[in-house]
Amino acid sequence: MKLSLSILNADLSCLRSVIEGLSDLVDYVHFDVMDGHFVPNLTFGPVLPNSLRDKLALPFDIHLMVDRPALYAPRFSVRPEDVVIFHIEAADPPDEALAAIRGLGCRVGVSLRPRTPLSVLEPLLDELDWVLVMSVEPGFGGQAFLPESLERIRALRRMVGTRPITIAVDGGIGPENVGAVVEAGADVVVVGAAIFRAPKPREAALNLWKAAGRPRN
Ligand code: DX5
Ligand code: ZN
Repeated sequence: MKLSLSILNADLSCLRSVIEGLSDLVDYVHFDVMDGHFVPNLTFGPVLPNSLRDKLALPFDIHLMVDRPALYAPRFSVRPEDVVIFHIEAADPPDEALAAIRGLGCRVGVSLRPRTPLSVLEPLLDELDWVLVMSVEPGFGGQAFLPESLERIRALRRMVGTRPITIAVDGGIGPENVGAVVEAGADVVVVGAAIFRAPKPREAALNLWKAAGRPRN
């Protein structure tokens, strides 16, 4: 298992030190970019992750919940090990978004809303590095995990077969369900609220590893 830290519910006024304080317990930093169109919420654009890119060693996964991802993806400063993820529902056809992200020299990911059929991924599988399965409706942190996501993760794992695709799962993950999510086939779990809404975020992160049956440190 790898853990991606979703900073949506972190104290953004001191984000760099918040991330540095958890950096030994996480593997990625997850940025939720929302445009108020594709989802009914507004967060931040490229300026926030770009301002941190050279200051942090952890890889970033940038989750674009925006219309016109091919237009906005090139505005992110990324390293080869970073991932830029667009929503399949926002990019029809997806070719331009795929090419725009590939052109950045980083990894390419696609995400799906909970009700989007997995079959839309079939024609893209050979071009993807990551699939981000949404286990809540995209838009807000701190929502309840949709239990039907477990079957979707299993089905996606079967569909991916032996391809080198990372399966990440995003939304509502905490100590009560992280084991089941990993068991179903997730390589990366994205976690925000269960860490940042806990009284002691470091303890909460340690607890997640323990709950997944993979104690860390
Ligand atoms: C929801 C976002 C998630 C969210 C993480 O639109 O994509 O990344 O912050 O979910 P929680 O806060 O439930 O861990
Ligand atoms: Zn996200």
